[in-house]
Amino acid sequence: MPTLQLTGADIEKAALLLQGGDLVAFPTETVYGLGADATNPEAVAAIYAAKGRPSFNPLIVHVADIEMAREIAVFDDIAEQVAAAFWPGPITLVLPVRLEFGISDLVTAGLDTIAIRMPAAPLSRNLIARASRPIAAPSANPSGTISPTTAQHVLDGLNGRIAAVLDGGSCEVGLESTILRTTPLTLLRPGGVPVEELEALLGEDIPGVTSDEGISAPGQLASHYAPNSRLRLGVEAPRAAEVMIGFGPVNGHFNLSEQGDLTEAATHLFATLRKADLLAQNEGKTLAAAPIPDKGLGVAINDRLARAAAPRD
Ligand code: TXA
Ligand code: MG
Repeated sequence: MPTLQLTGADIEKAALLLQGGDLVAFPTETVYGLGADATNPEAVAAIYAAKGRPSFNPLIVHVADIEMAREIAVFDDIAEQVAAAFWPGPITLVLPVRLEFGISDLVTAGLDTIAIRMPAAPLSRNLIARASRPIAAPSANPSGTISPTTAQHVLDGLNGRIAAVLDGGSCEVGLESTILRTTPLTLLRPGGVPVEELEALLGEDIPGVTSDEGISAPGQLASHYAPNSRLRLGVEAPRAAEVMIGFGPVNGHFNLSEQGDLTEAATHLFATLRKADLLAQNEGKTLAAAPIPDKGLGVAINDRLARAAAPRD
């Protein structure tokens, strides 16, 4: 079955599909998510199948309002503070799960915590509210490939494998959400909310994950967001056989932000990686990327670039 292409006018249809256990890709402010009813085990299993995702990798549950979030997870003081400051928005909280709510354990992959967020894009919140249930949604791309920031990107990877895609244009933030665990306080993934802003809010340093922790941040597989072409990082002057992704004054075939603006660079990152990869493949070249300052959103951009450049097996 070809994938239905829906717009904001069809939101009721999209909500009915979700209620019926079908998969619907939808735009959030970060990236497009591949949504399923988080309380329906068959629907959640279908996400893993459509993406070819390793089943030990748990999913983020998306809610329309804080009340729904509090029914699903146990909010401590830090969670309340972060949610009050940044929800709706690009941050995910990892909190103890309330088993009685009935979230499928395929969502949590058997952990006793759950990743939960309230997205800011109005289309996503309207959809979740109409479906009136929490929606599990990883990024709407085949596992290990570049995350989608347009409906066309979703179709490029998953056409025919999901019921529908809701088209809401390009994603504003362009990078996945920041993932914060509150106990112990840990940054599990840099993302759309810079860690400096969280540290300012909470008044303390937030450590990253230690390498011996393994599965607690199972999404942190080294190779991820992989383009087809090899990618070299921190490049000021590309070689002749490289397609160059510039930033600021370091120019190239593409430039993430000529003004050197990290917010603009984040918005354009994944779409640019796709275009550059296509050009590199057509011309038998490899990829190179300019250095990006490692502060603010630059931390998340560098994280994604490092994964895109990581050796694969
Ligand atoms: O911006 C986003 O977060 C997007 C949009 C669609 O909301 N979603 C997204 O989902 O990036 P995904 O599945 O690609 O990444 C989810 C991450 C994975 O790294 C996963 O391991 C982690 O969340 N995760 C989920 N549940 C967890 C838990 N209980 N403890 C630790 N990490 C968890
Ligand atoms: Mg992903």
